[in-house]
Amino acid sequence: MKAIEFRKYGPPEVLKVVEKNKPAPGPGEVLIKIHATAINSGDWRVRKADPFLVRLFFGLFRPKKSARVLGSVLSGTVEGLGEGVSRFSIGQAVFGMSDLALGCYAEYICLPENAPVVSAPETLSHEEAASIPFGLHTAHHFLKPVPLNKDSRVLVIGASGAVGSAAVQLARMKGCHVTAVTSGTNAQLVKSLGANRVVDYRSESLGDLEPFDLVIETVDRTPNGLLRTLVKPGGHLILVSAGVKDMLLASLRARRWGVSIYTGVASVKAEDMELFRTMIESGEYKPVLEKVYAFEDVVEAHGHAEAGHKQGNIALKIV
Ligand SMILES: NC(=O)c1ccc[n+]([C@@H]2O[C@H](COP(=O)([O-])OP(=O)(O)OC[C@H]3O[C@@H](n4cnc5c(N)ncnc54)[C@H](OP(=O)(O)O)[C@@H]3O)[C@@H](O)[C@H]2O)c1
Repeated sequence: MKAIEFRKYGPPEVLKVVEKNKPAPGPGEVLIKIHATAINSGDWRVRKADPFLVRLFFGLFRPKKSARVLGSVLSGTVEGLGEGVSRFSIGQAVFGMSDLALGCYAEYICLPENAPVVSAPETLSHEEAASIPFGLHTAHHFLKPVPLNKDSRVLVIGASGAVGSAAVQLARMKGCHVTAVTSGTNAQLVKSLGANRVVDYRSESLGDLEPFDLVIETVDRTPNGLLRTLVKPGGHLILVSAGVKDMLLASLRARRWGVSIYTGVASVKAEDMELFRTMIESGEYKPVLEKVYAFEDVVEAHGHAEAGHKQGNIALKIV
């Protein structure tokens, strides 16, 4: 099968198209033929080992063998079932995540039966379906514990990215008033996702805004002093893109600032993916797919993702 491998941390050019053996499902595993994956911020962060912590998970000096094929999301078809698998059937169209196990930049993958993979929404192409789980599972993970209702005022910083575009949609689904921070070019996009107000970070100051019940920071460029003033006393702050230092200081800052702070690494379960499928099929949740790249153009696609100005998501077509 064809796959994209990297054997050293570095720029997009470390990614190489290679031939590998097709995997066979062991007991309790499902074999999936992948039709599309997406290039996410998590992928380039692992590729260039940024932050350094990546090396502790995926290999200190170079990516360990199990991490050589990047990619954490897929849309595809079930092609084989290992002994004892009953949750899937041959030919079933599925979408979901391999998550930290990676391996989705390939024609085939074997995943455990309980992986966060479920029937694909009937309304989407494979590229659209693959573009959804990364941003949506992250936004869903962080928004789940926050009490929100139609009176809540929410600020999403980085509202046009994979996570931000999902956060805008989820907050609007709860009836919140959403202020979206993005560049002017993306104003129309975030409005189409339901944002009530758009703030162009290139020409407007966030310091002029009234404090919010919830601030979702996905860009990690907002100074702490400003973040503190943007959240109402007793309000909530989600730091999606926080570095290790800010993660460690979160509970201390939360006490000092008198707010709840949520940070860390998002996780996803099969039941979350079932919920996402329902939201998509009912039309409540829309995919935001900027561009589809050919498999061989993965280097260009990674450059695009790393530049930090994606409009939602970009997908990689596999077959
Ligand atoms: N904690 C976790 O588990 C977790 C999970 C997923 C992602 N993350 C992190 O979350 C961050 C966002 O990820 P992503 O996948 O959503 O990124 P992304 O898709 O690359 O989105 C970046 C977006 O940020 C916008 N942006 C850039 N500079 C901005 C600024 N100064 N103010 C407001 N918006 C700005 C860009 O819009 P313009 O083009 O308009 O500038 C772009 O649409 C990354 O650092 C990623 O590593 C963390």
